[in-house]
Amino acid sequence: MSTDTSVPSKPPAPQLHFPDASGMQILLSREQIATRVSEIGAQISRDYQGQSIVLIGVLKGAAIFLSDLARSIQVDATFDFVAVSSYGRARVSSGAVKLIKDIDDPIEGKHVILVEDILDTGLTLSYLRGLMLQHKPASLKIATCLDKPERRLVPIEADYIAFKIPNHFVIGYGMDYAENYRNLQDIRLFPEEAASH
Ligand code: IMP
Ligand code: MG
Repeated sequence: MSTDTSVPSKPPAPQLHFPDASGMQILLSREQIATRVSEIGAQISRDYQGQSIVLIGVLKGAAIFLSDLARSIQVDATFDFVAVSSYGRARVSSGAVKLIKDIDDPIEGKHVILVEDILDTGLTLSYLRGLMLQHKPASLKIATCLDKPERRLVPIEADYIAFKIPNHFVIGYGMDYAENYRNLQDIRLFPEEAASH
């Protein structure tokens, strides 16, 4: 009989690298972002003049965009947040979207803007849009900081887009690689060679 009581060892977890962001190319500077976010805020203020709106942010990526956008909107606004299953630790999406946190307050009869960091394949926002429409808001629009139209798998467009960008993986201004880099002030290109697939 074997006397070996050792636990079989798991294969080592793949090593993720978080290189220093200061060497990564800036795609959109903090100044460019601030200017554009103010423009969108002004546009939303015009579109909803005399009305109040509910901004629903998609956690965690949209938190920073929502906080800047909200402060450049002149009409009355309340906040809510939803969370969905995301890219997790790697950069490749499973394609499946699951609600992790629902809205706290009813939105029936209200003017709602879903606020997202990036519209990529469109899976997240088309899922959320369907879900929110079930609550019968008076209107539902989408605001996204970035749009990567080349990557779309399902047909969905945003009503307010800060920037359309080519198919690059980006970090900063709320956007992460494996939960890192969200607090960078500029949006930077994450080097392909550093990403684990
Ligand atoms: P979609 O469901 O493919 O449209 O995915 C949207 C989500 O994917 C975004 O909210 C981001 O969290 C994530 N994502 C897509 N592209 C990037 C990127 O370049 N950097 C960081 N996150 C990204
Ligand atoms: Mg996100």
